[in-house]
Amino acid sequence: MAAVLTSMRALFAPSPAFVIDHETPADVVAREALLDRTMGRDRRKKSSEKIRRGRVPAEGLALVARDGAGHVIGTVRLWNIEAGVSREGQTVDALLLGPLAVDCAHEGKGIGAALMRAALLEARKRGHGAVLLVGDAPYYERFGFFADKTQHLVMPGPFARDRFLALELVHGWLEGAAGMVVASGRKLSQPTDLRRAA
Ligand SMILES: CC(C)(COP(=O)(O)OP(=O)(O)OC[C@H]1O[C@@H](n2cnc3c(N)ncnc32)[C@H](O)[C@@H]1OP(=O)(O)O)[C@@H](O)C(=O)NCCC(=O)NCCS
Repeated sequence: MAAVLTSMRALFAPSPAFVIDHETPADVVAREALLDRTMGRDRRKKSSEKIRRGRVPAEGLALVARDGAGHVIGTVRLWNIEAGVSREGQTVDALLLGPLAVDCAHEGKGIGAALMRAALLEARKRGHGAVLLVGDAPYYERFGFFADKTQHLVMPGPFARDRFLALELVHGWLEGAAGMVVASGRKLSQPTDLRRAA
């Protein structure tokens, strides 16, 4: 009887409106179309793009949101970078987040926040110390991103300082970090990699 009740409950339980999942090579075309729709084709001229170009995302840190039918309705990726050097002259390993985008038809349902939380949790689990991004402070402050931690860092190209934000996953990780942000992730080399990062 209990088994029957459980099956009945499962049958009538509302299915989740979206799920957060790891991106697969089969998602690349849908992800790129989503980014073109939400951010425009000029997105490729951004300074952050210089860091992403020719690289694969950090291990385990390319996520998508899927609707009930499995379609990609949100995306976020994080990239390995060196965030300048420390006072001791050591390079400071970190992550660059972006782009984050959610399909316009699904905005305001908490998908952006769910992608952010899942990405930050995964980054923490994997032992990363800090995450940087260039974006709207009023949106990213709710996740703990602020401009004070990047004040001695620069992006490799034009950027607005009040949009250049960081979150420390390990307290003090960016203390004294100064200099230019440079890509440090694995370079694209094989055809499968090219499809993943297109
Ligand atoms: C920004 C974006 C990812 C948010 O996704 P989302 O799934 O709609 O976000 P959530 O549902 O988690 O959060 C919605 C909240 O964020 C707020 N918000 C959305 N974009 C914002 C922005 N640029 N600045 C400040 N607040 C913003 C909404 O007003 C809403 O506020 P509320 O919770 O007080 O009602 C999505 O709007 C998007 O893809 N925009 C286009 C691409 C883009 O600009 N990406 C980078 C952002 S700098």
